Amino acid sequence: MTNATFTRRSAIALSALVLAAGANAQGVDKIKVGLMLPFSGTYTALGVAIENGFKLYVDEQGGKLAGREIEFIKVDDESDPAKATENVNKLIRRDKVDVIVGTVHSGVAMAMARAAKESNTLLIVPNAGSDAVTGPMCGQNIFRSSFSNWQSSYPMGTVAARQDGKKTAMTITWKYAAGEEMTNAFKEGFEKEGGKVVKQLTLPFPNVEFQALLTEIASAKPDAVFAFFAGGGAVKFVKDYAAAGLNKTIPLYGSGFLTDGTLDAQGEAAQGMFTTLHYADNLELPKDKSFRTAYAKAFKLQPDVYAVQGYDAAQILRTGLDAVKGDVSKKAEFAAAVEKAKFDSPRGAFTMSKSHNPVQDIYLRKVDGKENKMVGIAAKALPDPARGCKL
Ligand code: BEZ
Repeated sequence: MTNATFTRRSAIALSALVLAAGANAQGVDKIKVGLMLPFSGTYTALGVAIENGFKLYVDEQGGKLAGREIEFIKVDDESDPAKATENVNKLIRRDKVDVIVGTVHSGVAMAMARAAKESNTLLIVPNAGSDAVTGPMCGQNIFRSSFSNWQSSYPMGTVAARQDGKKTAMTITWKYAAGEEMTNAFKEGFEKEGGKVVKQLTLPFPNVEFQALLTEIASAKPDAVFAFFAGGGAVKFVKDYAAAGLNKTIPLYGSGFLTDGTLDAQGEAAQGMFTTLHYADNLELPKDKSFRTAYAKAFKLQPDVYAVQGYDAAQILRTGLDAVKGDVSKKAEFAAAVEKAKFDSPRGAFTMSKSHNPVQDIYLRKVDGKENKMVGIAAKALPDPARGCKL
């Protein structure tokens, strides 16, 4: 190599370094977002809706948050808790993401919260309601844009007993954290208002062989049934319940996941059902109208609660990133900004509790055609009790 070649190469290398340093100084590195969601199995549609909602919000900001472009790294968690720790550690250790957004399944989310806590990585949960995530596992770096399992189902128990005068009920669900926490929350609300839950039925996740349990319900004849299923499992359960003729004699209540994003497939079987949730299809709020129009245009689909939660996960990220100018190491400042924000969500405005769970209205909804129509407010600005959270 001649001296001239050496000098030319050194100059090129040096200018590349200077350019990179300049880019860093201006804070233009991309923010790496790890999207850990179910892209296979019974919760596939939920994962897709969350991703769509998240990306819609980012697109509305010109593809950037806090002035930084976003790089997405996707992992299909298959709603499998046994693979969750390995999956989340790939994002944290191998891909070195700045923030993790996930997931749908409560069991998977608990493993994610553990890993996020150990590594002090930002985590925004866009669905999974595990009470533990904003309870005993709560943390400065952990946020939820959705709901707690307790929050979604306690109000349905109070409405069924107080408003509808039901005296006895049975519950039915998959045997894992979400199902157990939602059916127990329904029981807590129902029994506080004088009702009695006479039996709690379960089957393993994501099993959909409901027949034996439906036969048990038919012979016990409670005044009401409360169920938690979601995605493909919810479609099958509501159709099987109607096919057994039970919808004519024993009203089926649920947390709203039983009929959200599923009405096209459930059709006649779901008509007239009452559920409680933090979203409905006829809210007519300005933010909801613009969101629904933009979502339908972008994805040729009507949005559901999962899309809203994905959209709001991106809003939460933006709020925190703006406050720290994109420096995700400033966890306390990030959290302080999110805690004092008021989020203009398609569901209606919400704030964040100290344990980082939305404080939000829980609507009473009735299925009418292809819509979950809001017919009342079951609980106004309901906080999660955050049992066991020490911050
Ligand atoms: C959960 O596992 O927390 C969950 C899954 C689907 C819908 C709602 C909650």
